[in-house]
Amino acid sequence: MALVTGSGRGIGRAIALHLARNGADLVINFFRNRGPAEQTAEEIRALGRQALLVKANVGEIEEINAMFDQIEAEYGGLDILVSNAASGYNRPVLEQRPKGWDWTMNINARALLFAAQRAVPLMEKRGRGYIVSLTSPGGTRVLPDYAVVGASKAAIESLTRYMAIEFAPKNIVVNAVSPGLVATDALQHFESTRQEGILERLAAANPTGRLATVEDVANVVAFLCTPAAEMIRGQVIVVDGGRTLLAGDIN
Ligand SMILES: NC(=O)c1ccc[n+]([C@@H]2O[C@H](COP(=O)([O-])OP(=O)(O)OC[C@H]3O[C@@H](n4cnc5c(N)ncnc54)[C@H](OP(=O)(O)O)[C@@H]3O)[C@@H](O)[C@H]2O)c1
Repeated sequence: MALVTGSGRGIGRAIALHLARNGADLVINFFRNRGPAEQTAEEIRALGRQALLVKANVGEIEEINAMFDQIEAEYGGLDILVSNAASGYNRPVLEQRPKGWDWTMNINARALLFAAQRAVPLMEKRGRGYIVSLTSPGGTRVLPDYAVVGASKAAIESLTRYMAIEFAPKNIVVNAVSPGLVATDALQHFESTRQEGILERLAAANPTGRLATVEDVANVVAFLCTPAAEMIRGQVIVVDGGRTLLAGDIN
């Protein structure tokens, strides 16, 4: 049984479908958009796997707990947690407000900590487990209007390292995946990625000549949830075609 937070749409949906094709049953979590989540669940059932649909705002601890109560009651255990859901107040540092900080940090970073606290006992029952979080290059580098989301991603990357060490004796593998730009609805929230022709320009500037797709990201997340990845612990795996290796203007 695998839980992917925010799996009705975008990268989360691709991860859920990939895990289902690999034989997992899924918990599909959504917050605002029930329709796409129902459709994702239907596609998973069409693959012959089970799909439990759970509405929960992962920014609220009570809603995380209610989701895990439901998983525990229906399945009694959990093998995989993918902490993918994200939101954020995108604006310059001087325009940030406490509400945006709390909202962003709670959904993106706090959710990982408290979901992991509930996931670990369910994984211990299975004898092993895998936790993968979605972070972004903005956790370590500077993107336009991304200060608070970037801070939340840095927190995710740090938590990933602590959890990898603390959960290792429990046979739970913890890592993070950092995609470069992926064409999902998320790009509509940034002025810089709403510009006409920007995706084509960024694809041309990528060493591979294209942007990473949701499937590229899902492939790596799914790999990190297999015994083949057993000795990769607490790492942030970048999936961007090498884009962030480039030093800037001279490239
Ligand atoms: N796209 C990129 O270029 C990119 C690059 C680097 C990293 N990432 C990371 O990859 C992950 C997925 O990104 P994406 O592009 O697929 O995002 P997206 O298209 O904006 O989708 C966001 C997903 O998160 C869910 N969500 C948002 N707030 C939630 C909440 N409070 N509780 C539960 N679910 C919530 C949404 O569910 P509802 O629709 O139901 O609200 C939706 O399924 C994120 O962690 C993002 O930071 C993305």
